[in-house]
Amino acid sequence: MKIIIAPDAKALARTAAELFTALARTSIEERGQFVVALSGGSTPRQLYIRLADPEFSTQIPWRAVHLFWGDERCVPPDHPESNYRMVKESLQVSIPSANIHRIAGELSPHEAAALYEQELRTFFGNTPLFDLVLLGLGEDGHTASLFPSSPALHEQFRWVVAVSHNVPPPPLVPRVTLTLPVINRAREVLFLVSGVAKAERVAQILGHASSSTELPAGAVNPSDGNLTWLLDAPAAALLKNNS
Ligand code: 6PG
Repeated sequence: MKIIIAPDAKALARTAAELFTALARTSIEERGQFVVALSGGSTPRQLYIRLADPEFSTQIPWRAVHLFWGDERCVPPDHPESNYRMVKESLQVSIPSANIHRIAGELSPHEAAALYEQELRTFFGNTPLFDLVLLGLGEDGHTASLFPSSPALHEQFRWVVAVSHNVPPPPLVPRVTLTLPVINRAREVLFLVSGVAKAERVAQILGHASSSTELPAGAVNPSDGNLTWLLDAPAAALLKNNS
């Protein structure tokens, strides 16, 4: 596992864009495509905006990129809370529509989960091998839409599940999420964590191995892939060797 600490949120977005670009270029050179599961939330939005900047966008052959989502809120794709809408508005690059594999948030949670699982199985076959899974960290230790104490944390067979979500953090809408077996199969997993509000959870997950797996984000541990935590200094403030 690698921990990278950027001075602030702006530098975190830039470093994330550099990492994303390098991984995309290597994947496309080696395998002809780059298959990424994007994260929702506010932190990665700055990454997507940076990637759309010509400084980075001109370095990535976007026609060979396949976008999936790590999770989605069960709302229509034009809803303000939609992760798909957030990406569409921030990652303004030209990707073939066939390469954009959104979660159909407008359907019922179970229908959306079943459809997305089918799309993943059609795309990957027997093994869901993402080149990169981007993740965020909630203040409660959740990641994607895997929330503390959720039964979804114990799912070992399905690649996608629908979860109810009626306690904070908002939005209090049902979700569809990748499961841990899929996330932990990825070649690369990159957490993007910004802000002092996350510092306690970061220290709990990265500072004390014992308690880390109790939290969903602490259960992310790729079996063969690489795990990187990209933090800004406020989010890393309580990490021992960072004091
Ligand atoms: C979502 C994300 C969620 C997010 C965390 C952190 O759908 O919102 O999948 O897991 O990554 O809640 O969100 P921020 O980056 O906004 O703090």
